[in-house]
Amino acid sequence: MSDAVIRAVIDTDPGLDDAVAILHALSSPAFDIVGIMTVAGNIGIDVTTRNAGRILAHARRSDIPVVAGSAAPLSRAGFDTIDIHGDDGLGGVSFPEPAVPPHADAVEWLADLLLRESAMSLTILALGPLTNIARLVLDHPEAAARMARLIVMGGAIDEPGNVGPRSEFNIAADPEAADIVFRAGIATVLVPLDVTRKVRASRSWTAGLRETGVPAAVASADLVDAYFQSSSGRESRPLHDPCVMLYAESPALFTLERLPIAVELETDDDVGALVIDDKDGVLLDVTMKVDADAALGLLARRLSGG
Ligand code: BDR
Ligand code: CA
Repeated sequence: MSDAVIRAVIDTDPGLDDAVAILHALSSPAFDIVGIMTVAGNIGIDVTTRNAGRILAHARRSDIPVVAGSAAPLSRAGFDTIDIHGDDGLGGVSFPEPAVPPHADAVEWLADLLLRESAMSLTILALGPLTNIARLVLDHPEAAARMARLIVMGGAIDEPGNVGPRSEFNIAADPEAADIVFRAGIATVLVPLDVTRKVRASRSWTAGLRETGVPAAVASADLVDAYFQSSSGRESRPLHDPCVMLYAESPALFTLERLPIAVELETDDDVGALVIDDKDGVLLDVTMKVDADAALGLLARRLSGG
């Protein structure tokens, strides 16, 4: 970890793995979380927004504002993932109710924040579809240009997709938004399935978390167990969104490649797939390898209060 604390906003659709990632960020001294913006994705906006408040209440961090964002992709219908994340988005795991109500309009809130803070001081940790960030780019380009960097869980490069043959959920849920954001000239790091599928929670890793008795670790164990329940018979589950926080906190755990990325928008059968395109692609930093054991070790340590 570098010594400087990362001042960050989380943009998220919690979501089981989003919840573990948020608990990591709240537990780690590497982060100063300024706010949580929500977006529709894993489930509708009212539920993702409520869940962000519930996670903060659990962590006793209701001083951090929750700001409700986009209720639907820019120009498409959203997906339904109740079979993975449960009809409450958190797999039925017990969390308290939000201690304070959410604020409205994440895009306006983020624009004001970026204009108020020193330029290039704020990192955005994006764990869901990129609808809010695309709207920021479209409506407030001068604010978007002040972002220090954007770290995005999304896409698949050499790996198969998880909603289509090559498309991944966060990009496929709002491919036009991803295309706008990637072309915006923001310093972006993409964290695709190629690494997130390597950072896997096993049942013994989860049991280790539970044994600590630390609330963030026990809640994370419950969330991963709920994830196991939606995938009977699997030996381990991928920790997609926590890889964003892990990269932000400890980039040395990952190997970056600079790749010309384009988003497939025109096809009907695999929209949102990422294409390596030397002519029309945008050069992005992409995490292509990870030291998975060290990543899991760091995540467990942070969730356990170390
Ligand atoms: C991504 O999709 C969502 O279901 C997860 O929360 C993660 O952000 C993985 O493809
Ligand atoms: Ca997510």
